[in-house]
Amino acid sequence: MHKDVEEVLFTEEQIRQRVHEIGAQITEDYADCSSVNGKPDLVLVSVLRGAALFMGDLARQIDLPLEMDYMVVSSYGASTTSSGVVRILKDLSTDIEGRHVIIAEDVIDTGLTLSYLIDFLKDRKPASITVAAFLRKDVKGQADIPCKYMGFECPDKFVVGYGLDYAERYRNLPYIGVLKPEMYS
Ligand code: IMP
Ligand code: MG
Repeated sequence: MHKDVEEVLFTEEQIRQRVHEIGAQITEDYADCSSVNGKPDLVLVSVLRGAALFMGDLARQIDLPLEMDYMVVSSYGASTTSSGVVRILKDLSTDIEGRHVIIAEDVIDTGLTLSYLIDFLKDRKPASITVAAFLRKDVKGQADIPCKYMGFECPDKFVVGYGLDYAERYRNLPYIGVLKPEMYS
């Protein structure tokens, strides 16, 4: 275990198994997806940078044609909490009108980032839009997110690994661990 981590919450093996299950579920749920103008009907969207690892693993567990696209957003405010003010730094490259969108997110904390994004993308008239969140934190007052797929419920602690960072570190840890509070206080 990394010396800055106080506890491992989800091991590499648990993550692999869970992502496989979510991928199988999506494969079943979207089995009827065909193609729109020759493009796959299904679009996986990930919000860089945290969700890139999850989306990469998830995509390989979905046995359907799909397009992968990326957004970059930044939220203003303190480094370990979300302010809810979202700025789009990179928009989608593909057109999602009439297509089925699944946003792959690393973690839902306050939910403010995702509620903003969902509203933003709904304006483009996708056929449907839902969320696959790798982690959902157990926090009071979380925004109501249409999250059909979820990896794990997570305690309200600051976690790192599997794409999640603190100050751009720890993303490459293969497990989800609780960061020692002295690392950020
Ligand atoms: P929300 O808007 O509060 O739901 O914040 C979501 C974003 O904050 C996530 O996509 C992460 O980038 C970041 N975040 C929230 N909690 C954690 C955490 O425990 N570790 C690392 N990043 C986190
Ligand atoms: Mg993120």
